[in-house]
Amino acid sequence: MLSAIQDRRSIRVFLEKPVPRALVEEVLLAGSLAPSSKNRQPWRFLVAEGRAKESLLEAMDRGLEREGRSPLLPGSAAYRSGAENTRRIMAQAPVVILVINPLGQPLDRPLDPEERVYEICNAQSLGAAVENMSLAAWDLGLGSLWICDTYFAYRELMDWAGGSGELFAAFALGYPGEAPPPRPRKSLGKIVEWRDGN
Ligand SMILES: Cc1cc2nc3c(=O)[nH]c(=O)nc-3n(C[C@H](O)[C@H](O)[C@H](O)COP(=O)(O)O)c2cc1C
Repeated sequence: MLSAIQDRRSIRVFLEKPVPRALVEEVLLAGSLAPSSKNRQPWRFLVAEGRAKESLLEAMDRGLEREGRSPLLPGSAAYRSGAENTRRIMAQAPVVILVINPLGQPLDRPLDPEERVYEICNAQSLGAAVENMSLAAWDLGLGSLWICDTYFAYRELMDWAGGSGELFAAFALGYPGEAPPPRPRKSLGKIVEWRDGN
């Protein structure tokens, strides 16, 4: 097995050390090399550093505040404090990449079955891209955190991003400031069912 698959961890503490642009570009290239449904490559990457990252965090703050008042995700209120923590991690990471699906539908628009399948296929493609980025980052000696808590600031971050589509994820990147132990995984015995026809 590739060592990056075995050893990669989500990193939530970053060193105050800038990441050379060439390494960020290599991570983005790894994302762009992912397979995608019908080779649609449904991705756009917005790389925020420095002052731009500060304004992204301000958008995240506006979203977290608005989510308390007028929630877009009322059923997820219990996870909002976790999102505050993720926001602190984003503040620490020298680079935050917003991953946008330019072909995505608005979050509150009902989908017919065909549109839903199209969304599911694009989401799989985007997941492959972000996983490639995570593994490439690890292989380059960088740490990353795949982030979906950004959904608590969905509208605000999409306004920040500009353009159309949907927010898929954020990706915090930097030099790791921690070495977490492996998080538990379900054993194959619990999640795999073999069928051999007998
Ligand atoms: C789709 C997705 C969304 C995630 N969102 C967050 C997040 O918003 N905040 C966070 O701290 N971790 C987030 N994570 C990281 C997971 O918590 C982590 O992958 C999981 O606990 C397993 O740990 P490991 O990545 O170190 O193996 C996310 C991971 C994935 C794949």
